[in-house]
Amino acid sequence: MNSAISKFYEKSLGDRLDAVRDHANLTPDEVSSLKKYAALDFETANRMIENVIGTTQLPIGIATNFIVNGKEILVPMALEEPSVVAAASKAAGNARASGGFQAKADEPVMIGQIQLINIKDLSLAARSINERKKDILELANSKDPTLVSFGGGAKDLETRIIKHGGKEMLVIHIYVDVRDAMGANAVNTMAEAIAPTLEELSGGKACLRIISNLATRRLARAKAVWTKEEIGEDAVEGVINAYSLAAADPYRAATHNKGIMNGIDAVVMATGNDWRAVEAGAHAYASIGGQYRPLTKYYKDMKGNLVGEIELPIAVGLVGGATKTHPIAKISVKILGVKSSKELAEIIAAVGLAQNFAALRALSTEGIQKGHMKLHSRNIAVLAGAVDDEIDAVAKIISEEKKVNVARAKEALEEMRKR
Ligand code: MEV
Repeated sequence: MNSAISKFYEKSLGDRLDAVRDHANLTPDEVSSLKKYAALDFETANRMIENVIGTTQLPIGIATNFIVNGKEILVPMALEEPSVVAAASKAAGNARASGGFQAKADEPVMIGQIQLINIKDLSLAARSINERKKDILELANSKDPTLVSFGGGAKDLETRIIKHGGKEMLVIHIYVDVRDAMGANAVNTMAEAIAPTLEELSGGKACLRIISNLATRRLARAKAVWTKEEIGEDAVEGVINAYSLAAADPYRAATHNKGIMNGIDAVVMATGNDWRAVEAGAHAYASIGGQYRPLTKYYKDMKGNLVGEIELPIAVGLVGGATKTHPIAKISVKILGVKSSKELAEIIAAVGLAQNFAALRALSTEGIQKGHMKLHSRNIAVLAGAVDDEIDAVAKIISEEKKVNVARAKEALEEMRKR
C-alpha cells in the first residue's frame, strides 16, 4: 500500500487508525492497544525495570510518504516535539519524485572490549592471544549456541595497545554478529566468558569486559535525491550552504546532528530500542576523525539536483529487550513491516536523513519558527482555556498576529466568547 496518505493530519483518529490498520494488517486487538492510552500494564512494566511505580507516555505519530529501497513505509515516531513528524513526512514526500530513499546497512556486527592490565610484554601477549584466536572464538560461541544456529556469533578478534597516563594496556576487540538483536547481552556474556583465557594467555588482569557503543562495523547508510523541480533551486543552494557550515564548525554540527537524532531517536523509541546506545554511537562516530562533524552530507548532481547522504552506526534489534515485550513497540515493528534488524536500521537512517533535510531546507529558506509557532499556538490556546472549535480559532488569531502567548490567547478567547 502507498505510504503517501494525503492530508493524514486532517483525518480523525478513527480514520488514521483505519489507514494504518489497512497498511500493516493490524488485528482488532492491536488497534485497540493503540487506542488505549495505557497499553503498557503494570506486570509488563515491572519486568522491564526495577521499582516500578507507573509509566510515562509519549505520543506516537505516523510519518507518511516514505519509500525505502522501493518499499512504501509508514513510520511510527515517538517523541514530544511538535513539527518533527510533519517535517519528516514532507521531506519524504519531496523525495518520492526520485524514488525515495536507497539505504544499506552492514551486517549486524557489534564490538566487545576486554581491557587487560598489568601486562609485562604487551607485544608478546598480543601474539599469544592472536595465535589462539580460533579457540577463543569457539569458547565465546559456546556461550550462545542459539545465535550461532542463526548464522551469528563471534567472528573475529583483534588486539590493540592503548596508552594512557604513562601506562599501557592491551585491549581485545571481539567482533560478534548479533543477527536480529541489539546485541549487548550476547556480546557482554561472551566478553566475560573469554576474559579468564585472555588473562592466562597475556599474564595480565582483565578489567572491563563490555560492549562498545561505537559500532563501526554496524553502520547504516541512506541516500536520496531531491530534484530542483520539486524543491526549487533556492532550497538546493540553501541546504548546501547550511551543510557547509556544519561541515566546518562543531557548534553548528552539534545542532545539525541534533536534528538528525530527532528523527532517529523517535523511531528507535517507538520500536522499544535503546536510544542512549544509538545516541552514544552517533556522536562518537561524528567525531571519529578528531573533529565533531555532521552525520550527513549534501552535494549537487550533474542535473543540479540535491543529493543527501547519511552514515552512522545504528545498533537496533527486533528480538530481546522491550521490542518483543512492549505492546506498542511490537505494533510499531509491525507497522514498519521490517523482518530484520538490518532493515530496521536502513529505515531509521532514511528517517534521519529526511529529518535533517527538512530542517536545513526550512532553516535556509523561511526559518523554522513560522511552522513551529503555528503548531505551538494550538498548545497555547489550550493553556488559555480554549476547547473544541475554539482551539483552532484562537490559534489562528494569535499566530497571525505573531503574538503566541497565553495572555493574548486569553484575551482573544474572551473576545470570541463575547461575540
Ligand atoms: C530542533 O529540534 C532541531 C533543529 O535545530 C535542527 C537544525 O538546526 O538543523 C531545527
